[in-house]
Amino acid sequence: MKALILAGGSGTRLRPLTHTSAKQLVPIANKPILFYGIEGLVEAGISEIGIITGETGTEVRQVVGNGSQWGITISYIPQHEPLGLAHCVLIAQDFLGNDDFVMYLGDNMLEQNLRDLVKDFKNKRTNSELDCRILLKKVANPSSFGVAVVNDAGHVTGLVEKPENPPSDLALVGVYLFTAVIHQAVASIVPSARGELEITDAIQWLIEQGLAVDHDILEGWWIDTGKKDPLLECNRLVLGTINSSINDEASISSNSVINGPVQVGRQSSIAGSTITGPVVIGENVTIENCQIGPYASIGDGCVLSSTTLDDSVLLKNCSISMAGRITSSLLGRSSSVTGTTSATTTSLMLGDDSIVELR
Ligand code: G1P
Repeated sequence: MKALILAGGSGTRLRPLTHTSAKQLVPIANKPILFYGIEGLVEAGISEIGIITGETGTEVRQVVGNGSQWGITISYIPQHEPLGLAHCVLIAQDFLGNDDFVMYLGDNMLEQNLRDLVKDFKNKRTNSELDCRILLKKVANPSSFGVAVVNDAGHVTGLVEKPENPPSDLALVGVYLFTAVIHQAVASIVPSARGELEITDAIQWLIEQGLAVDHDILEGWWIDTGKKDPLLECNRLVLGTINSSINDEASISSNSVINGPVQVGRQSSIAGSTITGPVVIGENVTIENCQIGPYASIGDGCVLSSTTLDDSVLLKNCSISMAGRITSSLLGRSSSVTGTTSATTTSLMLGDDSIVELR
C-alpha cells in the first residue's frame, strides 16, 4: 500500500503566514504539521509516499527531503495549478499504479493512529469486496467540509462538498483509503462550480456505480489546521500529550520556576521566569523575566523578555519584549513585537518578518 499526501494549495485562510511559507510546514509543538502525517503513515507500515506540491513545492522538498530521515522513499509530484483533490489523484497515476493507497490531506491532524485504520482496511479488503473507505466525524459546522449521508442501514448514500444546507453533521475527514478503481472515478467526473475536480464527486461516482464504499466514524479529535484558531486548538491538544524533557545543554537559572510538562532544547536559557506547562521551547531560545504558558510552542532562536505568553505558536527567531500579555497568537519567522507596558493583552497573527510596536 502507498500513500499520497496533498501538500499543495495556497493556504489563503492562513495568510499572511502563507505568503512566504507552506501551510503544511507551520509547526505544532515545534514540529511541522506535515511530519505528523508522514510519521503516522510510516507507523502504519507505508514506505512509499508521493507528495503533491504546489507553489510552495521547493520549501516542502527542502524540509521533508527524500524520506531517508524516516527510512522510506518520498517522491514529489508537482501540481501546477490548484485544480482540486481529485486532480491530484489524476496526476499521481504513474506513481500510484494499481496499488491501494491512503490519500492524506497534509494540513489535517488526527488523534487516532493510522496504523489501526490501515490494518482494518487491509483485513476488510482480504475478506470482502471494498473499493473505498472514507472517514467521518460529527462536526458543529458541516458547511465547511464535504458532508456524507449515511442511511439507517449504515451505508453511505451520498456525498456533497461544502453544502449550504448540510444533509447531516458528518464531515469527510481528510484521510481516504482507495483502491485503483478511484482512477476511473477521477477520470469520469467534471469540475465543480468552483472549477475543481472534487474528490467528494469522485467518491459519489463510485457510489453511483454500485461500488463498495464504506465508512468509519473517527474516534478522537480531528483538526483541519488551515486557519489560526483550529491550528492553536491543535497546538493545545498536542501539547497536552507531551512529557517533560530539559536538554543537558539548556540553562535554567535558580530564580526560575518550571511547573508541569515542559520541554527545553539545546543551548536555551531561562532566567527569572515562570514556565507553566505544557510548553515546548526550541533550541537557542532566550527567555528573561517572562511568564510563559500554558500552551506555548516557541521555535528555535526566539528571544523573549518581560512578557507573558500563552496559547500561542512562535515560529523561529521571533523576539518579544515588554509586550504585556500575548495570547491566542501565531507569529511568523523573525517577527518582532515590542511594547512599553505590561498592562495590555494582545492577540496577533503575523507573517514572517513582521514588526509590531505596542504603545
Ligand atoms: C477538503 C475537502 C473536504 C474535506 C476537508 C477536510 O476541503 O474538499 O471534503 O472535508 O478537506 O479537511 P478543504 O479543506 O480543501 O477546503
